[in-house]
Amino acid sequence: MKLLHIDSSVLGPHSVSRQVSAAIVDRLRQATPSLDLIYRDLTQTPLAHLSASHLAAVQGAPAPAELGPDLAASAAVLNEFLDADVVVIGAPMYNFTIPSQLKAWIDRILVAGKTFKYGAAGPEGLAGGKRVIVAVSRGGHYGAETPYAAGEHLETYLRWVFGFMGITGLEFISADGIQIGPEHRQKALAGALQAATSLRSA
Ligand SMILES: Cc1cc2nc3c(=O)[nH]c(=O)nc-3n(C[C@H](O)[C@H](O)[C@H](O)COP(=O)(O)O)c2cc1C
Repeated sequence: MKLLHIDSSVLGPHSVSRQVSAAIVDRLRQATPSLDLIYRDLTQTPLAHLSASHLAAVQGAPAPAELGPDLAASAAVLNEFLDADVVVIGAPMYNFTIPSQLKAWIDRILVAGKTFKYGAAGPEGLAGGKRVIVAVSRGGHYGAETPYAAGEHLETYLRWVFGFMGITGLEFISADGIQIGPEHRQKALAGALQAATSLRSA
């Protein structure tokens, strides 16, 4: 069984989502020691934004030589994703949604003919059957009962993106209110780390 672990926080050792995603992976590895683990740090090895030449090459146009590394990186992340049975994603909220590093990764895995297709009945996901667990960290609170609910574009966005690829039942472990103060931060982090220990095995 293959587990793909992705982090996207720019805050390195100070990151909350990195601590939570690591705890999720630890829990799954303890339960299933034979897990085959691939780790991708999207800030250490960022993916480029999509370009016109990249899109043309994907459509079959001759690719200029300088596009080689970009196409290779795209193929690598897409294959890692397609091969994975379980995907664990560290996803901090930056400006109401995911970091642009994580968006760049999504731009490389949402590929027509690979993870979705347009059929007679509309879009059809081709990547179903994966388990996706997301470690979320947010500075504030965005629950339905809060005045900020309409500003939540992280969880809603990821649910839509993975659903589009046929992956439903996303699991979220969230540490919220991180920037309210040190006590909130500590409590939210402890709660998320505790929740990670209760995850069902892979
Ligand atoms: C550039 C930046 C933008 C942020 N934007 C938001 C935001 O829109 N809403 C929010 O609740 N918190 C926001 N925060 C706070 C982070 O969500 C919070 O610090 C969280 O712990 C970040 O996750 P990380 O520690 O894994 O990087 C922002 C933080 C940074 C650095």
